[in-house]
Amino acid sequence: DLTLRSDELLMPGSVDLHVHVRGLGLSYKEDVSSATSEAAYGGVTLVGDMPNTHPYLNTAEAVLEKLREMERSRIDFVVYAGVGSETKKLDAMPIAGYKVFPEDLERPELEDVLSSSKLKILHPEVPNSLQGQRTLRALWQELASLRLVRGRFHVTHCTSKETVELAHGSGFTADLTPHHLLLHESDCWDKVNPPLRDETTRRALWDSLWVAEAVVSDHAPHLPEEKRWHYDICPPGIAAISFTTPFIYSLVFRGVLSVDRAVQLLSKGPATILGLKMGEIAEGFAANFTVVRREYWRYSTAYTKASHTPLDGYPLNARVTMTFVQGKVAFDGGEVYPVRGVNAIA
Ligand code: DOR
Ligand code: ZN
Ligand code: ZN
Repeated sequence: DLTLRSDELLMPGSVDLHVHVRGLGLSYKEDVSSATSEAAYGGVTLVGDMPNTHPYLNTAEAVLEKLREMERSRIDFVVYAGVGSETKKLDAMPIAGYKVFPEDLERPELEDVLSSSKLKILHPEVPNSLQGQRTLRALWQELASLRLVRGRFHVTHCTSKETVELAHGSGFTADLTPHHLLLHESDCWDKVNPPLRDETTRRALWDSLWVAEAVVSDHAPHLPEEKRWHYDICPPGIAAISFTTPFIYSLVFRGVLSVDRAVQLLSKGPATILGLKMGEIAEGFAANFTVVRREYWRYSTAYTKASHTPLDGYPLNARVTMTFVQGKVAFDGGEVYPVRGVNAIA
């Protein structure tokens, strides 16, 4: 029964372009069922899954195995592959594109990925170990000078306004994460990549919320005990896939963002980056939507194995009360249901 209350909005489902679902050999950190249950709880109806699991998803065999595993996904999904020697084979498979990590910049196989017609997702910053070598900035300029098709390159988790401007100046799309908007390096000890920035950079990043094409969670779950390790060996990552949608609609209820802008950042923008037009989504993904209620509460995760995030307890003014995937109830406020999502690229 779907009777909307006067304090509820019926919105398109959120598309989260950047998620580490894990699974396969990293299922102890997170598996397809725990990640996509957390997603449904957070109003997300489609995830883009990153390739850095075990085995690494840069071979046809590993990607096939991952696609089979994703059949257990409770929401729709796309899969990205990593840089390796099997790009020609991978190009023929139902994957959305490739994730280029900073370490990949030195690999000769990168050329094949860069000439693939599929979407390439790039990192915005270069780690110290690679500074002075082929930097991402130089790579972007090279790519821009080749006048490659607009929109087929996407710069993810931009942490500064300047990076978003540089991405747009190169003809690429760009996204932001809630944690880089909300947390700065000296009020949060959690390790994450790219690292949290200083307070001035964080504040200025809010300007980008009006020009970026998408917001993403970069959901990167690790076990609570791993996150308690000494900073030097602690794995980086914040597991808050369920935070993004109520956070953005909180900004709508507080009068900061328009509903149109929220839909652009959460649904329309990311769907367009994936090459899924809203019309096609309406046809092929009949009823992916979410009900968002105006309600004050403090954020907490529900289904991820990660269990702790630095956003726990953050005050929000919006809450997801229902999520529909493929026209079926995937989350109803109290429970998630084993709806079967589909590969949006197949
Ligand atoms: O914080 C991060 N965690 N950044 C990455 O690039 C990888 C990710 C992960 O897989 O844990
Ligand atoms: Zn990353
Ligand atoms: Zn990531």
